[in-house]
Amino acid sequence: MTKKVLVSGIQASGRLHFGNYFGAMKQNVALTESGEYESFVFIADYHALTTLKDRDSLSKATSEIVASYMACGLDTKKVALFKQSDVPQHTELATIFNNVVTVPYLMRAHAFKDHEAKNKEVNVGLFDYPVLMAADILMYQADIVPVGSDQKQHVEYARDIAGFYNRAWGVDYFKLPKEYILKDVATVPGIDGQKMSKSKGNVIPLFEDEEELKKAVMGIVTDSSTPDDKKNPDENIIYNIHKLFLDDSQNSELRNKFENGGYSYKEAKDDLLKTIIDWRKGKKDIYDGLINNPEKIKEILKEGGEKAKKKATETMHDVRLQTGLDF
Ligand code: ADP
Ligand code: TRP
Repeated sequence: MTKKVLVSGIQASGRLHFGNYFGAMKQNVALTESGEYESFVFIADYHALTTLKDRDSLSKATSEIVASYMACGLDTKKVALFKQSDVPQHTELATIFNNVVTVPYLMRAHAFKDHEAKNKEVNVGLFDYPVLMAADILMYQADIVPVGSDQKQHVEYARDIAGFYNRAWGVDYFKLPKEYILKDVATVPGIDGQKMSKSKGNVIPLFEDEEELKKAVMGIVTDSSTPDDKKNPDENIIYNIHKLFLDDSQNSELRNKFENGGYSYKEAKDDLLKTIIDWRKGKKDIYDGLINNPEKIKEILKEGGEKAKKKATETMHDVRLQTGLDF
């Protein structure tokens, strides 16, 4: 039986956080483990260049993604874990897609509109971001793309672009991919209650040192309720982060603590910190071991890049044939 295909990327632009983990990484690990998918998980380093112009930060972010994924249980035997720029076919395919995509269509992208609204300069890489992302996804004929809800529009773009290409060349070639977004973790809140995001400085990091982790957890914004006050868990940032780690019975126990009163924010933060430290047990050592072993990381990426390139070469062979570039 041919397996379904999973494709998911993370931009190499900063340290990873629990929004990345619950929004995408956890699903990527679990679906890869299920054995039902051929998995392509990659570091979007070309995409990172749209905002990052710093050699050291880019390589640091790249290593961190590999080490974090390995620590979270991604098994390199079952996945192609690679760097986008090691498979230059992605940019080649994006160049072809650029000819079936119009400027007004790209002007509807949220990321572009946000930049415009803030009067920030938009470079061509950022403007074309959705096209490169469509190439990332369609290259492998993805069935599903596990992401957080902020990426929904980008997967819609990929679906549209598959259709534009198929119609332009009169083929039924690119498969229409679907986003895979889990409702409960579609948007993980940051310590200020807004979407947790590298760019907002409101993250709880996955594998930073305990001091940093503690600082983030203790920095979660709270209101002026007293310890005795009953608190609505659904409106509470500490609860909304903590629940992501819990099973049903642990979750109802935690809800009760908030609802009954007598549960101070200090205690709530201490409990969350303890949960995160427990979650990191075993994982943090794997992370630290790898982050201090860049040669091993390079080896993992090289092997993953070769697997991905095999499929990418096949796709580009077909595309060259369909478009006439094969002459
Ligand atoms: P960031 O927003 O911090 O820059 P990325 O854009 O690199 O993160 O996101 C990588 C993956 O993690 C994407 O699939 C994205 O949807 C997911 N993700 C990021 N932040 C969150 C969040 N707060 N909640 C849910 N998913 C998220
Ligand atoms: N845009 C995604 C993000 O910011 C990263 C990404 C690039 C991606 N290419 C992708 C995600 C392909 C899924 C599939 O998180």
